[in-house]
Amino acid sequence: MSKIGLFLSTFNPIHNGHMFVANKLKKEYGLDKILITPLNAIPNKFEELPSIKIRREMCRLTCEDYDNIMVYNTQHDSRLSCIFDILQELKIEFCNDDLYLIVEPDLFLSFDLWHKYEEIFDVAFVLSFAFSEYDYGLMKNKAEKFEKRVIIKMLEHNYISSECIRIKYAQGLKCSDYLDIKAEKYILNNNIYVSKDCLFKECFNASKNRLSSKRFNHCQMVAKAAKELAILYNEDEQKAEIAGILHDIVKEKDKKYLLYIMEEYGVNLSEIEKNTPQIWHSIAGALYCEKYLGIEDKHIINSIKYHTTASQDMTMFEKIIYMADCVSDDRKHEDVNIERELVKEDLDKALLFQLKKCITLLCDREVLIHPKTFECYNQLCQKNFR
Ligand SMILES: [Fe+2]
Ligand SMILES: [Fe+2]
Repeated sequence: MSKIGLFLSTFNPIHNGHMFVANKLKKEYGLDKILITPLNAIPNKFEELPSIKIRREMCRLTCEDYDNIMVYNTQHDSRLSCIFDILQELKIEFCNDDLYLIVEPDLFLSFDLWHKYEEIFDVAFVLSFAFSEYDYGLMKNKAEKFEKRVIIKMLEHNYISSECIRIKYAQGLKCSDYLDIKAEKYILNNNIYVSKDCLFKECFNASKNRLSSKRFNHCQMVAKAAKELAILYNEDEQKAEIAGILHDIVKEKDKKYLLYIMEEYGVNLSEIEKNTPQIWHSIAGALYCEKYLGIEDKHIINSIKYHTTASQDMTMFEKIIYMADCVSDDRKHEDVNIERELVKEDLDKALLFQLKKCITLLCDREVLIHPKTFECYNQLCQKNFR
């Protein structure tokens, strides 16, 4: 009797992190063979997928140097019933063997959305993994709810996601540290992740995949307003659109997660910041875009960081994102039409108007105000006196 692993993901693209996981789990659980199968669909996930043929080829090239890790070709790769169907197919081929289904954390957390998911547990052990205590906790909770044959393994690896690799390619960066050399050559020769609007598309999907439709609609509106303002003030409209679509990317994550990200990257929150959780999504959001999504542009990162508090010495680009968030088409607050006119006339005047309103409101509520907000306000007032 052998132990056969089936590793499923979209593998868009397959990378060193996947291979590390495959190798590690193979050793740890004594698997005799791991079959790698790219999927064409993941529930509730928006992703532009190159053809299955292309992704299989990247997997094949990557697996060439590994013993007993190989691509498994199946016809069942595109529907939500596919995991169940692939396992049925394997059960016939490996009728005397134990099957281990290996799935990535995201896929495990949405496991109950797969067709006949409960029956999957009857056919195979489900094996998943986490790289952070935070994910591990979430996955353990989910596993307990399933009450089935599930193993969650905590692994240590500087894992970056396929999404982050695609975003790096879309920015014209190389990813030789994260991919098999032959797979990278194949990607570059075939221009797989490098086209003019790839970066915005990736960021659009990244935001869509993490937000409710209402919040995502807001981000789309902010992206639109940011683009219009960037054109008006001669700033980079593509970057403005990207910052707009990403600015609230972690807004719906729970507070514990935001604290976890900030702690992981050594942010020391001041006493005021500790007591103003409503601004955490901007600090954590900037880190998330930089570290997890691989956005390298400092203008984009800083504009996300300051989109709630504002800051001293804000650049034109940062002011644009701050104001786009206030005047986007979905905003209906009092004075929004005055702000929409002001923002077209003079960005600083619009910003001062907005800060004045914000400070007054927070004072009325007797809640904390971030010093950066005052710094920005004072700086703009001083400019008026000159
Ligand atoms: Fe926000
Ligand atoms: Fe926002």
